[in-house]
Amino acid sequence: MEITQSSKNKLGMPLVGYGTYQISKEESEQSVKLALESGFRHIDSAEAYNNEEGTGAAIKNSGIARDEIFITTKVFPGNKLWGMQEKNYEDTLNTLKSQLQLLNLDYVDLYLIHAPLSELRLEQWRALVELKKIGLTKHIGVSNYDEIRIREILDAGMDKPETNQIEFHPLCAQVKVTEFMKQNGIEPIAYSSLAPLSDWRKEEGQGGGVLSEKKEKAQSLIHTISKDLNVSEAKLLLRWALQKGYAILTKSTKEKRMKENFDLFSFSIPEKEMAQLDGLNLGQAFAWAANGLNPMEVAPPLK
Ligand SMILES: NC(=O)c1ccc[n+]([C@@H]2O[C@H](COP(=O)([O-])OP(=O)(O)OC[C@H]3O[C@@H](n4cnc5c(N)ncnc54)[C@H](OP(=O)(O)O)[C@@H]3O)[C@@H](O)[C@H]2O)c1
Repeated sequence: MEITQSSKNKLGMPLVGYGTYQISKEESEQSVKLALESGFRHIDSAEAYNNEEGTGAAIKNSGIARDEIFITTKVFPGNKLWGMQEKNYEDTLNTLKSQLQLLNLDYVDLYLIHAPLSELRLEQWRALVELKKIGLTKHIGVSNYDEIRIREILDAGMDKPETNQIEFHPLCAQVKVTEFMKQNGIEPIAYSSLAPLSDWRKEEGQGGGVLSEKKEKAQSLIHTISKDLNVSEAKLLLRWALQKGYAILTKSTKEKRMKENFDLFSFSIPEKEMAQLDGLNLGQAFAWAANGLNPMEVAPPLK
């Protein structure tokens, strides 16, 4: 089926979303305001981004009707490795309630467990099921879950996650889990689609330089294809993920880039070039690499 600017996935989520990671508390209101003005109607947030007040203020002041904006946020599950307390059932319920106050909202459209970092992840999931039941979120899902960790939920007989938000780009093409999600009707959402670029997270302290040598070979092919198709490298990567059936998230604090990243429907990548990009897969995750971990693998399976 042809995708267009107004296409949505099964959850009613606009396919192109604006991500708010690595945007400071001070910058977040202005950035989300510009994103909404650039046309984005899907905002991705998280407890751990520590900037939800600004996001909430921008949404409120935009004058856009609440039901025209799809808002995702995430609970941070805790992490023993980092000495952080793991959230239990009650903590998880209370976290969304606090986030709604910061966001100045009555409900979110999608609530996710940020990563399977905690041994308490099944009771955290039970809390998400309850949060949906009481109407504080319309949809529930997970992030950074592989097949094994999604199966833990299915095997426990609980409601299925409606979506899984994962790192997804040609160097980290997630072939196995994508197939599993497709078979089980779990909607895929891509993050860090721009990780292959040399510009990705390049400002001081953003950690984008880690593993940069692994990207070098891919960068020349991405450059050649984007030149041939007469689009920017960023647009090529975002469009690749869309053509793979994913909803995408893109972050920039720069208005010009926001507009560029939102405009992905006036071209398409031919089959031959899609296959060339598919050939770049290294199965390598970059997004959490500055912390020295791959969130999909850090906590052992529950049994
Ligand atoms: N669930 C998770 O664990 C998880 C993990 C990572 C991300 N996410 C979500 O996914 C969103 C997107 O991922 P991401 O933050 O890793 O970012 P991304 O959108 O893949 O890349 C952002 C980086 O690329 C630069 N950039 C943006 N547009 C560009 C363009 N047109 N040309 C060149 N460079 C460009 C940005 O710089 P400037 O800002 O300076 O433009 C920034 O350094 C996040 O904000 C977050 O909402 C979720």
